[in-house]
Amino acid sequence: MNQEGSACACACQNETDQEKYDRIQEIIDEYKDVEGSLIQVLHFAQGIYGYLPDELQKFIADGMNIPLNEVYGVVTFYTLFSTRPKGENTIGVCMGTACYVKGAKDVLKAFSDQLGIKVGQTSEDLKFTLEITRCIGACGLAPAITINNKVYQKVDPQKVHAILEEY
Ligand code: FES
Repeated sequence: MNQEGSACACACQNETDQEKYDRIQEIIDEYKDVEGSLIQVLHFAQGIYGYLPDELQKFIADGMNIPLNEVYGVVTFYTLFSTRPKGENTIGVCMGTACYVKGAKDVLKAFSDQLGIKVGQTSEDLKFTLEITRCIGACGLAPAITINNKVYQKVDPQKVHAILEEY
């Protein structure tokens, strides 16, 4: 399946970078005089653009009339912000207590080895991003992982290959 076929079919798929920047500019205009609104603007910008590359951080800093350092500081401090493109699918390996005790570390290693990426990274084909999550409420059947919104329970390293094959 090609990338377009598997992703959502909404209009935003076809939006150009210029159109995305225009939308972000609108948000900046709306929030630039509101004190303490940087995080909100960054959040919107990430929602629109997908991640926050250097050029976009500079665009926001200029637009909001604040130093680039300040923007960079916020982006790197909060884990919810990403400076690199995300994969089509996000794998979240739970590292909550129950999952950890039941071997989540080995599950994480299996994903990492098979995809050739570390936590926080995206595979070269932009298909998967590997992340760690906190408890996702499936402790009874730990270790658990999520891929996008789907929860997988009782995952063991041997199942990792088959799970990845689904995508
Ligand atoms: S600790 Fe992993 S689901 Fe609760």
